[in-house]
Amino acid sequence: MIHASAPAKIILSGDHSVVYGAPALVAAISPRVKVTLQELPEPIVRLHADGQHAEMSIPDCLELQAELDELHDDFMEGEISVHDVLESGSELFFYALSQWLQPDARKGVELWMDSPIPIGCGLGSSAATIAAVCCAAGKFFGEPLEDLQSLVAQVRFIERLQHGRGSALDASAVVFGGVVHLADTLTEQAPLDNNWWVVHTGKPASSTGECVAAVREKYEDSPIWQRFSEVTNRFQAAMTAGDEPALAQAIKDNQRLLEELGLVPERVQSFVRRIEIAGGAAKICGAGCIVGEGAGAVLVRGVDPTTLAEEAGYGCQPIIGDRHGVRLEPA
Ligand code: PMV
Repeated sequence: MIHASAPAKIILSGDHSVVYGAPALVAAISPRVKVTLQELPEPIVRLHADGQHAEMSIPDCLELQAELDELHDDFMEGEISVHDVLESGSELFFYALSQWLQPDARKGVELWMDSPIPIGCGLGSSAATIAAVCCAAGKFFGEPLEDLQSLVAQVRFIERLQHGRGSALDASAVVFGGVVHLADTLTEQAPLDNNWWVVHTGKPASSTGECVAAVREKYEDSPIWQRFSEVTNRFQAAMTAGDEPALAQAIKDNQRLLEELGLVPERVQSFVRRIEIAGGAAKICGAGCIVGEGAGAVLVRGVDPTTLAEEAGYGCQPIIGDRHGVRLEPA
């Protein structure tokens, strides 16, 4: 049996703008997803996740891989929406494993996933799970990837089915761990301190892929990305210098820009204002939403948001950074 795990992630700055080449800061955080792979005596792929089970023969799995590649091409050519590429979450994992499958294989593989990361809330659950699956599969099939950058590329390649034209941000965080600054190159930063919280404002009714596509339609050539870059640069400088007022200002400015893009519902905006009145700063993390009331995770600094979150009916917890990226685990 092969075991692997990978952390959740939270985007500190650069959500969306990273897709247009702006710098970004992202942190790996607790909890970790765990996956286990075991050999099966027949050529089938079997998945177990969240109490759900699914299985497919290896030839069917390879056929699904080819179909999903074609659907993604259709999406890239503007013929279908990103929403129409995958029919279910399990297809993503059949697709991930298909990267290693051979049509004439005599044996199969069984995959268990145990993910405490909430799905679709801006905490990188799909990147973490895909990274853990790829890490375990590389070992299981005797073809581990040579370096972490190749693993980032592979996670991103698989995630494209879900996120469309996404960035390497989620993949970099869950593969490298710690705090990562992504610009032309990737640089590791000092670990997170204990003054960050995450507030859960509810699962967004729109997916990351849909939000990215909606933003692209309106803002692809907008000068707004320059303003995002400037905010992320200030964010990073303030974190490095331990300059709290400058960090709070960068968080607030980042939130205003995300509001300008239309990604923050009114209810979440007024929660953020209450955090600011209480002396803190907050911003949405991840894709946000284009419909509904929930915007997924909100990052908070400078004030313990427990009471305000309770009043708003939101869950909340302190953020615990994770210095470790994806890795194999002992049996
Ligand atoms: O919502 P999440 O956790 O999938 O993060 C999406 C981050 C975006 O910047 C909006 C898209 C991307 O691929 O970087």
